[in-house]
Amino acid sequence: MPLPACCGEPFGAGTKQCSTCGHQVTDAGLRTCIRFEARSDAMLAILRRAEAIAKACAPVVLLGETGTGKEVLARALHHAGPRAAHPFVPVNCGAIPSELLESELFGHVRGSFSGAVADKPGLFEAASGGTLLLDEVADLPAPLQVKLLRVLQNGEIRRVGSNRSLDVDVRVMAATHKDLGALVEAGLFRADLYYRIKVLSVRLPALRERAEDILPLARHFLDSEHSPPHRLAPASEEFLVRYRWPGNIRELSNAMRCASTLAEGPMIEPHHLPEEIVRATSTTRGGPFRTLAQVEQEHVLTVLRACRGVQADAARVLGIGRNTLWRKLRTYGRVPLRDGDLAIPAAPLLEHGGGEPSPREEPN
Ligand SMILES: Nc1ncnc2c1ncn2[C@@H]1O[C@H](COP(=O)(O)OP(=O)(O)OP(=O)(O)O)[C@@H](O)[C@H]1O
Ligand SMILES: [Mg+2]
Repeated sequence: MPLPACCGEPFGAGTKQCSTCGHQVTDAGLRTCIRFEARSDAMLAILRRAEAIAKACAPVVLLGETGTGKEVLARALHHAGPRAAHPFVPVNCGAIPSELLESELFGHVRGSFSGAVADKPGLFEAASGGTLLLDEVADLPAPLQVKLLRVLQNGEIRRVGSNRSLDVDVRVMAATHKDLGALVEAGLFRADLYYRIKVLSVRLPALRERAEDILPLARHFLDSEHSPPHRLAPASEEFLVRYRWPGNIRELSNAMRCASTLAEGPMIEPHHLPEEIVRATSTTRGGPFRTLAQVEQEHVLTVLRACRGVQADAARVLGIGRNTLWRKLRTYGRVPLRDGDLAIPAAPLLEHGGGEPSPREEPN
């Protein structure tokens, strides 16, 4: 495997090298030497491309549902590339208030706003020579999208309140669980920035689309929970493989932590698994494969969410009429009351067949 063979060993702050596998640790915040588990054809194909992507200096965009391992892959790409001896700096663009984000990314000079009592370098400077991961990049406010584009084009930043440009040598990676292409179509993300950051793009498949990885990952998490590790009873394995994992690998990791805590003996039995896994899987017919109608429902709701609930935008992106979209939403039993109403399910209730249509008026 081209990516570093990290071992999952926990270590303390300031660790420079993993004492178990020898992996060089350069990002100070890392608490575990993460082993990158991948057995499915889909993930092996990604890893085959990863070596070349790691060596390049062009921006990378990592796409995929929440919990599919975008940050883990970004770290692995950084560590496998020529910048490994320099910092890896992740920043969650959605978690920082937009008025603070500019100063956080680019730094500021003293007196540039109330509270700016001293010059402060930003995260671009902190990542000098290394990699900056812009997580949740779809949440980057429009003015900062312009500034990011300028950094990518010129390799220069300007601290807030300064008129002096500083050269920066940083590889930018971006990650999002949203459909960036749909956001561009809907005019919510700059097309020029989109094309600039997606020079190299990797889409991490959802866990349900790489069922071969479920059990190896589950065993990997059990190994790190308990010594000697608990083993999965065959009935539990069946539940895990059939479940749809809306929270992907993060949800699986938490499920194994829960099961390991509850198990009295050496085996994980179904009653040790989180209740929703057993309940949802017991009502699923036809195994992990989805029907065309289920795939369509999921796609329609993803686009609607990406368009922030604006049905007219979603209909345009989907290439259907607004009334057709409205009728589809009604059959899913989830009609938003008005444009922008995001009261749509976080994950479609596919296992349960969608529910009764909502008795609301069709729009004109
Ligand atoms: N291939 C893998 N092998 C082992 N553990 C993994 C792998 N991929 C992800 N994980 C684990 O799954 C969890 C979620 O991964 P990560 O934070 O990278 O997901 P994400 O795609 O960035 O999610 P989000 O969109 O919510 O930020 C982490 O605990 C991570 O250690
Ligand atoms: Mg992430």
